Amino acid sequence: MTDRLVAEDPAGECAERLAAAARAGAHIALTGGGTPRVAYERLAGMDVDWSGTTLWWGDERCVPPDDENSNYGMAARALLDRLPGEPEGGPAVRRIRGEEGPSAGADDYERELRETLGEELPRLDLVLLGLGPDAHVASLFPGQPTLRVKDRLAVGVEKAGHPPWVPRVSLTLPVINAARQVVFLVAGEEKADAVAKAFGTAEPSEQAPGSLVRPQAGDLVLILDEAAASGLGD
Ligand code: 6PG
Repeated sequence: MTDRLVAEDPAGECAERLAAAARAGAHIALTGGGTPRVAYERLAGMDVDWSGTTLWWGDERCVPPDDENSNYGMAARALLDRLPGEPEGGPAVRRIRGEEGPSAGADDYERELRETLGEELPRLDLVLLGLGPDAHVASLFPGQPTLRVKDRLAVGVEKAGHPPWVPRVSLTLPVINAARQVVFLVAGEEKADAVAKAFGTAEPSEQAPGSLVRPQAGDLVLILDEAAASGLGD
């Protein structure tokens, strides 16, 4: 099922969905980038018992966790550090260790996913993603071979296709597409073309990684503002 919401308050809509998943004790993968920050801040102020939730990340930049470019660091500042009762009543945090570098970071993350969620293809309950202006998702960039990786849960990405120009670690498409729910949060006119390429009528293409995100047995939810949705038909 695909659910497309053109929301007046995309951050609020996203925060509500994350809160509902957290209340249900979900395994949630957070995203990086700038767009979700406000959603995380709103979520921090909501009435949620986080103790049954496990937080993962869809991708990470290969920097230390307190670096300003760290996706974990952003979520820590916007959400985790603001939760009352932290750390005892907080969520379990399974961050990607970007500081280990792309290869070791991906190996460790894959091991942690397998140990926590089983040896088969893990099914995360909710994977939150952003969409780059080039239609990249997580750290899977247009035309890169990482888009074709089927036998790994996480991959090292030596060359980013978008700033910041540091190596990355990313979940692979099979893991993203195995999720019970994938939620995209996309805002701004500069994303309109990417939204059209990823979710419009065009054929799926490695030139638009977002078009390859289609959960096999889960829901796809698009939370867009009007500007980002402007390239889509009705
Ligand atoms: C990253 C992200 C990346 C992001 C998009 C959109 O680490 O850079 O996870 O995939 O979601 O680039 O980012 P913005 O929402 O900031 O445009």
